Amino acid sequence: VSIDRDEVRRVLDALAASTGAVDAAQGLPMECYVSDSFHEFERHAVFEGSWLGLGRVEQIPEPGDYFTIEVCDEPLLVIRDRDGGVNVLSNVCTHRQHLLLEGHGNVSGVVRCPLHAWGFDASGALRYATGMSRAVDFDPADHCLPRLAVEIWNGFIFAHHDPDAEPLAPTLAKVDDAARPYGLEDLVTTEPVVTGPFPWNWKTMFENGIEPFHTHFLHKGQHDFAPDPTFVEWDDGDGAVLHPTNFKELDQSFNPLWRGLLEPLPGLTEEHRRQVMFVAALPTLYFGLMPDHVFWMLILPVGPGGVMLHNAILHHRDATSLPNFDERMSWIVQGLNLLFVEDSSANASVQRGRRSRYATPGRYASEEATLPQVNRWLARAYRDGAARLGVEHETPVSIEGRPLVNETATIKETAT
Ligand code: FES
Ligand SMILES: [Fe+2]
Repeated sequence: VSIDRDEVRRVLDALAASTGAVDAAQGLPMECYVSDSFHEFERHAVFEGSWLGLGRVEQIPEPGDYFTIEVCDEPLLVIRDRDGGVNVLSNVCTHRQHLLLEGHGNVSGVVRCPLHAWGFDASGALRYATGMSRAVDFDPADHCLPRLAVEIWNGFIFAHHDPDAEPLAPTLAKVDDAARPYGLEDLVTTEPVVTGPFPWNWKTMFENGIEPFHTHFLHKGQHDFAPDPTFVEWDDGDGAVLHPTNFKELDQSFNPLWRGLLEPLPGLTEEHRRQVMFVAALPTLYFGLMPDHVFWMLILPVGPGGVMLHNAILHHRDATSLPNFDERMSWIVQGLNLLFVEDSSANASVQRGRRSRYATPGRYASEEATLPQVNRWLARAYRDGAARLGVEHETPVSIEGRPLVNETATIKETAT
């Protein structure tokens, strides 16, 4: 599949309709969700041009610890080196492209390619090039594993394909402020559970996760303790979209009892204990700050109509001493899963709907204020990606921070 430059141009020219205030904006063009060629454009524009959340530092505490991950068909290796640094390398052998490692584990010494035993160290340097002693003009230094830029943010590992990428942290300042009392850096993750592929577009899943409007309907009953979403402004330069939803009572949680199952995290005020903060750290990481835990998930595209998921829970390190800790954790996961089942059925349905010849972008309800914000994040990535590809387009892509609602608009209830 190759990039269709006319298609990219059409989408860019249409984006202005999707990035305004919520009461004036509409959804993205359908190509963005269903087209193979547009997905190919996104691979370049979004996934090669953004900081990618990949996991947590405590997944690889010791030198030689590693995990592998595939982001939009790009196999990556996240490995801790002898000096304690976290490196993100291409997981593709530079000899004949066998993948070096699978899953997660520990390598002592070099990373050995299974096919012909070339060996790379944790910085990506080629240490053993077996069979190459007679090769002319062969310098091992020319055959190291490509190494991505790495930034650790609150215990989350992010990587960027561009070694000169602008730093990530300033783009997450709003999330930092919201997350500070939770002490994310000191929380401990469970091992991520990998599932999929599921039949929907990666953006459909982020939309579902960051949009509270559907919870009154799709999750009726299950979500009733958390009826009250609020919204925050998105400014140009913001790397994430976030919004809190308020609970009816303190320390509630997503399970049939609506009660938190661990102790509230130390440092939270009553306000925090009465809300969940949802964060879409696009394009891969989604998480929710709860009074007693943080659920996090990686949403990894497999083509335009598929995702793989990595799901895990962060908890306080002292929580393990609570009676029945493992059972409590398993109830947290099961509680979230009840909602996931409903969201999955909706996401799969939306994906089928978006393939319809009759599908056109719809208008947003006011409780979907986060969706034009997601669109602005995407518009920036699309615009910058198109510029790198040299795709000219007519309408300038505007993404500046816009008010949540249009101040001059008259809002009428349209139920009839
Ligand atoms: S493909 Fe890795 S050593 Fe040959
Ligand atoms: Fe949902």
